[in-house]
Amino acid sequence: MAEVSVQNVTKKFGTLKALDDVSMDFPDGGFFGLLGPSGSGKTTLLRAIAGFIFVDGGTIRIGEQSVEHVPVEKRDIGMMFQNYALFPNMTVADNIGFGLRVRKVGAAEERRRIGEALELVQLAEHGQRKPHQLSGGQRQRVALARAIVTNPRVLLLDEPLSALDKALRVDMQIELKRIQREIGITTIFVTHDQEEALTLSDKIGILKDGRMTQAGPPRDVYNAPNDIFSATFLGDANILSGSGATDDLRRNEEADIRMPQGFDGKSTLVVRPENMSISLTKPDQEGLSKLKATVVQRVFAGAMATCILQSGGNTIKVIARDQEFPDLSEGAQVWVSWPQDKTIAIPAN
Ligand SMILES: Nc1ncnc2c1ncn2[C@@H]1O[C@H](COP(=O)(O)OP(=O)(O)O)[C@@H](O)[C@H]1O
Ligand SMILES: [Mg+2]
Repeated sequence: MAEVSVQNVTKKFGTLKALDDVSMDFPDGGFFGLLGPSGSGKTTLLRAIAGFIFVDGGTIRIGEQSVEHVPVEKRDIGMMFQNYALFPNMTVADNIGFGLRVRKVGAAEERRRIGEALELVQLAEHGQRKPHQLSGGQRQRVALARAIVTNPRVLLLDEPLSALDKALRVDMQIELKRIQREIGITTIFVTHDQEEALTLSDKIGILKDGRMTQAGPPRDVYNAPNDIFSATFLGDANILSGSGATDDLRRNEEADIRMPQGFDGKSTLVVRPENMSISLTKPDQEGLSKLKATVVQRVFAGAMATCILQSGGNTIKVIARDQEFPDLSEGAQVWVSWPQDKTIAIPAN
C-alpha cells in the first residue's frame, strides 16, 4: 500500500501532448477515478504510473520512491486492463498464480496466496476450472485476483468493467469496492462512465485534451464544477445562457434570477436538473429564482421523471420524482424555480 503522487507530468507523442502538465495526489488506501472523453489521456496517465511509458517531464512518486526512471517490473503494481486475457489452457488457480511463479515465491506460499485471492473474489470453489467454464463476471474476478495476488502497492484498473452489461457492471462495482476496502489497496480506476466514477471514487480527476481540468471528491466536483466542461461532463447541467455578459435574465416579466455568491457579471450560470421544480403559477416565495417556461416533453422513467422545457433560448431539463410534477401537457406555460444557493456561477476564463 502506498500513496501515489503525480506532479506536472507531460507526455508527448510526436507533436501531440497526450498529458499536459498533469498533477494529482492519490492518498494511501483510497479509490480514485480518472474520467474523461475518449482520447483525453486517461490510459496514458495510467501507463505512465505503471511504467509502460516514460514521461517527458514532471514527477511520479509511489510511496517514498520517485519512479520516473524505474521500469515497470520494479514498480510493484497490480494491473487490470479492459482487454485483459486469461490463459485459456490454464486453470483459474494457475492463472491467478502466474505472477507468483514469475516471482518464484515457492509452491506452498503460492498455494496459500492463491487460496486467499480465490476466497477474496468469492471463487473458492472454482480454482480447478478453466476460464471457458466461467461466466463473464467470474472471469473478471479471476483477472482481479491475478492483479492483486502479489500484494502490489497500487492497483491500476483501465475500464475494467466496460465490457460487461449494465446489471453485471453494477454488481461488479459493488464487489470491486468491497475488495478494495478489504485489502486497503490504493486503487486508480479509469472509466468513461461518469456514474461509475461517482459511485466508486473517494476522489475523481477529470481529464480533457491531456489536461486535468479538475480533481476532488465527486460531490465537490459535482456541486462546484470549475468550468463548463466539468459541469456538463459530470452529470446533467442546465446552462442559463444570457447569464454571461447581459442582464437580460436577471429580472423581467418572465425571469427573476437571484445571482449566487461569486457572480461577477460575466459568470455562466448552471443549475442541476434535480434542484429545479415546476409549478403552474409563478411561485411567490422570496429568494427563489424563477423562469417562465414552456413544456416540451415529459418522460416517465419509473421512480423518476424528466421534464424538458424551453425558456428564452434555453432548453431546460428538470428531474423529479414523478408524483412531484404537476399535471403537465406539452405546450403548457409553467414556472421553473430553484433556491438561490443552487445556482452555480462558473467564472469566465
Ligand atoms: N503510443 C501512442 N502513440 C501515439 N499516440 C498515442 C499513443 N498512445 C496514445 N496516443 C494518443 O494520445 C491521446 C490520449 O490517448 P489515451 O491516453 O489512450 O486516451 P484515453 O484513454 O483517455 O481514451 C490520444 O490522442 C491517442 O491517440
Ligand atoms: Mg483509454
